[in-house]
Amino acid sequence: MSAVLFVTGGAGFIGSSFVLQEVARGSRVITLDALTYAGNLANLSALRDSENHVFVHGKIGDGALVASLLATHRPDAIVHFAAESHVDRSIHSAASFVETNVVGSFRLLEAARAYWSTLDAEAAARFRFVHVSTDEVYGSLEPDDPPFCETTAYAPNSPYAASKAASDHFARAAFHTHGLPVIITHCSNNYGPRQFPEKLIPLMILNAVERKPLPVYGDGRNVRDWIYVGDHCEALGAIVRDGRPGEVYDVGGGAEMANIEVVHRICDLVDEFVPDARGPRRALVSFVADRPGHDRRYAIDSAKIRRELGWTPRETFDSGLRRTVRWYLEHPTWVAEVRSGDYRRWIELNYGARGGGRT
Ligand code: NAD
Ligand code: DAU
Repeated sequence: MSAVLFVTGGAGFIGSSFVLQEVARGSRVITLDALTYAGNLANLSALRDSENHVFVHGKIGDGALVASLLATHRPDAIVHFAAESHVDRSIHSAASFVETNVVGSFRLLEAARAYWSTLDAEAAARFRFVHVSTDEVYGSLEPDDPPFCETTAYAPNSPYAASKAASDHFARAAFHTHGLPVIITHCSNNYGPRQFPEKLIPLMILNAVERKPLPVYGDGRNVRDWIYVGDHCEALGAIVRDGRPGEVYDVGGGAEMANIEVVHRICDLVDEFVPDARGPRRALVSFVADRPGHDRRYAIDSAKIRRELGWTPRETFDSGLRRTVRWYLEHPTWVAEVRSGDYRRWIELNYGARGGGRT
């Protein structure tokens, strides 16, 4: 089914993958993005001439702008990705996380509710507000704990996770109090093309290619459950179309792995694609000071979305990582552009005081 979708944060990593997927599927998409350091119009360059895509530069917290966009484009669904998304940045300074993730999300929900109240009965029943959240709201698992699922209690540990948890609660309340057809999703760690290279996988790929140190926090045994970004977006597409209002869906890749193993696999792939006589990239691993409050393990039980919506990830971690490494090697201009300016300042701020080799 084609639809009109209002997508926030659509110039970021996951949002752009979703926008590209949905326009290819025949939907008309209106993207609202503030183009922070993490937002990049180049991520949507394939849609420059598309009649089915409209890009608007602006903030989710700008109620007047959002109200006018909703009244003009009359979307069938809002898919809300826009956020400050990096745990390490939230440790250095959390104010922008509260402003965007909490206050911005609240204002967006209010604008959505006002628009929804103008719809006729059929359109109102069809309307969806999909709030894209994270498994980090559940806190940290012990090695033998069962994976997170939709009924796991909230226990956010980082300022980022706390801000996402707060927005989840406002989204839930909008359904329970006002009947806005909200669906909340919690996904595990995404990786794939167009991810800003401050996150583990792209950072390690680019450093390995350039033979820079590979800064692994702590003992490298923290575990994440990795999912290819295209699989997450397929899940969100299924949720927009067939998800039940008021429900929560947890989405994971079923690929739990310790960080050091992820880094070793990246090294081996870069060695394969870009052979170097100086020797294996694994030798570049540099253990550095740990992230404060570093969650030990995340894992997701996706049984509900698999059972109810028939979703299943297509990529294994091996196939997805291979595609991802190849993408970064084949897009040097994209890489050069995002690594200028603010990126250099961030690397200095985050890694300057950690010790180990310089990145
Ligand atoms: P990202 O940082 O790559 O992109 C965020 C986008 O939001 C950027 O384009 C940015 O410009 C935009 N944005 C920021 N503030 C804005 C504002 N006030 N108004 C409008 N746009 C604004 O993030 P991502 O990794 O693509 O994550 C997208 C969403 O998915 C986030 O809500 C995140 O919490 C959630 N999530 C991410 C992951 C992951 O592994 N990356 C996993 C689960 C859930
Ligand atoms: O679980 C979902 C979350 O995954 C999302 O909600 C977040 O938006 C997303 O950023 C991601 O959070 P993480 O903190 O897990 O991702 P990050 O890539 O920053 O780190 C992954 C792991 O790698 C984590 O255990 C910290 C470690 N790490 C990270 C960096 C940047 C390192 O060891 N070295 C590094 O330089």
